Amino acid sequence: MPTLASELDLPEISATAETFDQRFARKMALDPEQWLVRNVFGYAVLHYDDVTAILRDKRWHSAVSRIPELMGITNPEFLARQQISILSAEGDVHTRLRRLVAQAFSPRAADRLRPFMREVMDGLIDNVADAGRADFTTDICEPYPIPIICELLGAPKKDWQLFSRWAGDILEIFSADVVDKLDLIMRTQDELGEYTRGLIAERRSKPAEDLLTDLIAAEEAGDKLNNDELVMMVNAVIVGGTDTTRNQLGCAVALLANHPDQWALLAEHPDLAPRAVEEAMRYFGAVRGTARFASTDIEYRDVLFPAGTFIAVGLAEANRDSAVFSDPEVFDITSPPAGQPQVTFGSGIHYCLGAALARAELQEALPLLAQRMPKLAIDGDITWKPEGVGIFGPARMPITFAAGH
Ligand code: HEM
Repeated sequence: MPTLASELDLPEISATAETFDQRFARKMALDPEQWLVRNVFGYAVLHYDDVTAILRDKRWHSAVSRIPELMGITNPEFLARQQISILSAEGDVHTRLRRLVAQAFSPRAADRLRPFMREVMDGLIDNVADAGRADFTTDICEPYPIPIICELLGAPKKDWQLFSRWAGDILEIFSADVVDKLDLIMRTQDELGEYTRGLIAERRSKPAEDLLTDLIAAEEAGDKLNNDELVMMVNAVIVGGTDTTRNQLGCAVALLANHPDQWALLAEHPDLAPRAVEEAMRYFGAVRGTARFASTDIEYRDVLFPAGTFIAVGLAEANRDSAVFSDPEVFDITSPPAGQPQVTFGSGIHYCLGAALARAELQEALPLLAQRMPKLAIDGDITWKPEGVGIFGPARMPITFAAGH
C-alpha cells in the first residue's frame, strides 16, 4: 500500500526567508536517501533519477498550463490562445504539435544559422572592443537572440527593432503583475499575429530556407498546422527562445570570468565550445527548476500523490547529483561528458524544443567572445535578477577586457 504524500514526515524547504543559494546548500546537504521534500506549493524532487522520471511521466502535466489560472487570468480569448500553444498544451494536442514541428527545430536546421550567429556576435563585440569595457548584459546578451530569431523566421533586418519591442512586451507574461499586463500582451500578440500572417502568405507563394517555410510544409499523415497554430508557434519561439538564451549566455560568461584559465583555453581551442556549453549549463543553468502537477492520482516510489498535487522539479540540484556526475561541484570544460546529459533543457515530452538552436547560439558565441575579450574580468559587482522568476541570470554585469581584439 503506498503512503499518502501528505502523511510523510518530510523536511520542509520553502522559498521564504532564504536565498536560492542558501536553499540550494540546504538541499544538497540532505541525506542522499531523502528524495522528496516539502515546499510551499507541495513537494519537490532533487535527485537526477527522480527529476528525469517525473519529467518523462506523461501523467505529470506541465504547470505552465496552470499559470493563467494561478495568476487569476480569466480572459477567455487569452485562455483559448494558450490552449493551442506548444508551451502549455498537454496530451494529444501537445503530441500532435510536437510531432509536426520537431523536424523544423532539428540540429541541421539550427546549423544553417551558425554563420549568421557569428556575424551578429562579431558586430556586438565590435561596438565595445576598442573601449575594453562593457555591460555584458545590455551590450551583448540582450541584443543577441532577436536578430537570430528574425533570421530564423525569415523577417528582414529592418524589423529587428519591432521584434525587440514585441519580445519585451510578450515576455511580460512572466511578470508578477501579469493580470495588469494582459491587455498589452494580447495587443502585442495581435500585432505579431498580423505580421506573422503576412509572412506566412509570402512563404506560401514563395518558399524560402527558413523556419516558417519548414513549419508551413510540416505535414504528417495529411495533417498540417493551421494559421492560428503557426502564429502561436512563432509566439512560443519568442517566449521560449529570447530571455532563456540571453540569461544562459550571461550565466556562462559570469562563470567563465571566474575561471580565467578556462576562458583562455576556450579562446585557444574553440573546438571545446560544445563541452563548455554543456558544462556551463550543468554547473550554472539559467532555468534552475520547473514544475508539474498530477493530472490523476499517481503512485511513485510507494508514495501516492493525489490528482492536482504540485511538484517542483529541481533541475539545478539534479545537475549536481554525485550519482551521475563525478566531481559535480567542480566546473571544468575539459572534463569528459558524464553518461547522462545535463538537464537545464528539461527532459521528456516538454524537452526544450529550441535546444539545438540554443546550443548553436551559445557554441558560436562563447569561443568568439573568449578570443575577442582576452583577460576578461568582472568590473565591480554583478546584479542578479530577482529570484522566483523562472529564468535566472545577470541583470547587470560590468566587465573589462583587453581592448582592440
Ligand atoms: C539556453 C537557452 C534555453 C534554455 C535553458 C531552455 C530551457 C527550456 C526548458 C527547461 C524547457 C522545458 C520546461 C518544462 O519542461 O517545464 C523548455 C521548453 C521549451 N523551449 Fe527552451 N530553453 C532555451 C532556449 C530555447 C530556444 C532558443 C527556443 C526557441 C526556439 C526555445 C523554445 C522552447 C519551447 C517552444 C519549449 C516548450 C516545449 C514543449 O513544451 O514541448 N527554448 N526550454
